[in-house]
Amino acid sequence: MKIGILGGTFDPPHRVHFNMAATARQTLGLDVVYLMPCGTPPHKDGSHAASRFYRYEMCRLGAMGYLGVEVSDFEIYQLTPNYSYSTLERFAAEHPGDDITFLMGQDSLNMLLKWVHPERLVKAVKIGVFVRGDESYDKLMREANEQIERITSSIGGHFSLIRITPSDLSATQIRESIRSGRDVSGDLVPVVCDFIKSRGLYADKMEMDYTDIEKIIKKKLKKSRYRHTIGVCYTACALAMRYDVDVDDARLAGLLHDCAKSMDDNELTRFCKKHDLGITKAEEKSPHLLHSKVGAYLAKKEFGVDDDEILHAIAVHTTGCPEMSLLDMVIFVADYIEPNRYEAPRLTEIRQMAFRDIISAIVMILDDTIFYVRERGMYMDPLTEETYVYYKKIVDEREEV
Ligand SMILES: [Fe+2]
Ligand SMILES: [Fe+2]
Repeated sequence: MKIGILGGTFDPPHRVHFNMAATARQTLGLDVVYLMPCGTPPHKDGSHAASRFYRYEMCRLGAMGYLGVEVSDFEIYQLTPNYSYSTLERFAAEHPGDDITFLMGQDSLNMLLKWVHPERLVKAVKIGVFVRGDESYDKLMREANEQIERITSSIGGHFSLIRITPSDLSATQIRESIRSGRDVSGDLVPVVCDFIKSRGLYADKMEMDYTDIEKIIKKKLKKSRYRHTIGVCYTACALAMRYDVDVDDARLAGLLHDCAKSMDDNELTRFCKKHDLGITKAEEKSPHLLHSKVGAYLAKKEFGVDDDEILHAIAVHTTGCPEMSLLDMVIFVADYIEPNRYEAPRLTEIRQMAFRDIISAIVMILDDTIFYVRERGMYMDPLTEETYVYYKKIVDEREEV
């Protein structure tokens, strides 16, 4: 199969992106061109960027109107930007026997020799270069050919040129227009335009509904983790009803509490270092603990949650902490007792206690957790012990009265 790849941020994907993909497909006789949105957008106005999942979805919707143009999720789950050679080598390895062409603009062609490992890139894939078909087309063609000559004589490679209708349209400009309330319907494919409007993307405040989040979480997490997440979500809702906590908050916190569980220990550590989230001694020893604080960070940045109470409940769901809010307690307990859990001792008693007296349930959970960790000679997070001491004292003092 002949495959073209058009990488980018696609924040948002606009008409020119789709036209470029369609033109490349026609010119080079490709079977399919994949728009490949990157996982982490490089632009600086991050607060107004759409999440990776929205960018993916917009590409998918827009591509439906273009024959042979599709979207690939190959890069979308990457939390740090990858060098092109590495992405393309991996992609080529996963598509043995396919003829792959990486599409780029003439600016990129001019810089290609300065990229990291361009020799590996041109070995992994062919290159298709877009040349603006305006009045300076002949000059641009000449320059492109000269540059290709320089590249091939230095590192080899297989290059083709693709003439495109010139346009100065840019995603940055579209985001700015939306922010200032200008009409952008001419710049976007209608279905993408509707998507942006219905979710208020690029406006001052973005909103996601539960169905969107549920879909994203389902795709992101392993099957068993997703099942657990839904279990936590509904158990948290039930506890919220019992303790007069906002049910929507409990639902959202439950849905997102393990959203960073798709990352392994190394990824979590790298992520925390990169985003200055800080790593405690305990987290250094047991990096999986980091999924709580990374989860809170992603809930804010990727899912647009700006309620500090929800973010806090996600951040402390693994260890708990002294002076938890009721929402914190609800998530902490729901995580332990949700219906898919079956291994912990005393589950039946703790489940019943959770609905009678949530603080006693917390003490029982921490008591069992500490016993479990000690018995196996595992490292004990001091915060878990601190939380236990804090709530045990409350229960003891209550009993004395
Ligand atoms: Fe968790
Ligand atoms: Fe969990």
